[in-house]
Amino acid sequence: MKIEIPRDCDRLGGVQIYGLQKVYELDSGGNFGKENNTHNNVIRSIPSEALYERQKNMAIVVPVKNERLKLIEGVLVGIPHPCQIIVVSNSPRGPVDRFQIEKEAITNFCKFTNKRVTVVHQKDAALAKAIELAGYGELLGDDGLVRSGKAEGMIMGTLLARWLNNKYIGFVDSDNYFPGAVHEYVQEYAAGFEMFDTDSTFVRISWNSKPKVMENSLFFAKWGRSSVHSNKTLNLLLSYFSGYETEVVKTGNAGEHALTVDLALNIEYAAGYAVETHHFVNIIESWGGVLPPKDNVDQRDKVTICQIESRNPHLHESKGDEHVEDMIDASLSVIYNSPLCPELLKREIAEDRAKRMNLAEAEPIAPVKIYSNLNNLNLDVFLEHCEAAFASNTESLSLV
Ligand code: GDP
Ligand code: CO
Repeated sequence: MKIEIPRDCDRLGGVQIYGLQKVYELDSGGNFGKENNTHNNVIRSIPSEALYERQKNMAIVVPVKNERLKLIEGVLVGIPHPCQIIVVSNSPRGPVDRFQIEKEAITNFCKFTNKRVTVVHQKDAALAKAIELAGYGELLGDDGLVRSGKAEGMIMGTLLARWLNNKYIGFVDSDNYFPGAVHEYVQEYAAGFEMFDTDSTFVRISWNSKPKVMENSLFFAKWGRSSVHSNKTLNLLLSYFSGYETEVVKTGNAGEHALTVDLALNIEYAAGYAVETHHFVNIIESWGGVLPPKDNVDQRDKVTICQIESRNPHLHESKGDEHVEDMIDASLSVIYNSPLCPELLKREIAEDRAKRMNLAEAEPIAPVKIYSNLNNLNLDVFLEHCEAAFASNTESLSLV
């Protein structure tokens, strides 16, 4: 892959946020023919072999809820072979057992591909028990099972990635129409880890475009409405602390992202649409040097956030636009309610929101549910019971 070296880097304490990097060639060749492996001041050429080496230690978590099988299969087709795939499904088990159907389809797919896939159901009782015994009962609902939601599925995926001994974890949604786009995201995750080879690297993807039908022709929109709001507000937050206006953040709510498992196990996860924005905020809370260090958070010299602009258009299953306002609200809520957020910015966020929602006056934004730092979970206890859960062969857990 040929990829631009980032021009900008904003620093806040131990957090380094690199500017958006463009991809110039999806495949720039392998190790053969060294003449093509240009490394200069503006571009870096990463041989395919180096990407595969990273992917051998990478789990890709695919959250699923009631997606069409063709879509799920397309996503699996796009994930490069060396990756460990972890499908976390929250599809209903009755009256029709959707999960069983998904599992059969995936097992069949694996017969053809020999891919490493682990399929789990979000409501598996043995895994819930392992999480409870490890002291992280906050993830469970009144029924003692893991709560519903994509963020909750992501937490399960993160724990399983650790159980399977991966160094990196990446996420791709299961409702993506283009296997080629999925393939590109995972290649870019690997490129990010290759360029910033640290224990605390976070790679976030910004889509180059999102096709929409407008007046009978295709229009390639660059920014979604909710990303405009979360990027702008995160940039204002950074500007407040540095004293310099910045536009460095372009991936405030990037659903497509990957990070080292080590970092993933040391951050908080917000429920619902706020999960991605909260990762950003929480990293600055923990290592930005603004707030006093928390006891339960490992000190780290450096956390690197790398942002890559993908080339494929992003097209996913259309589920209507009605949740855009909720998405904006959720991602602004985590910034607004962060102990980092200065009064000035709080007022600005609330006033903007009042205008957007036609409210008579600015109101405080309610906090969203936030799961505490994952290192509150006793990993050794979890790993031991997770092993036992898989060994007991419950049908909602399987290594295909
Ligand atoms: P959007 O893309 O942000 O509009 O949200 P989607 O509804 O497409 O959800 C994103 C991804 O999360 C899709 O792959 C869904 O199938 C998946 N998903 C949604 N809800 C849940 C859930 O409760 N559990 C799991 N495991 N996945 C979910
Ligand atoms: Co979607």
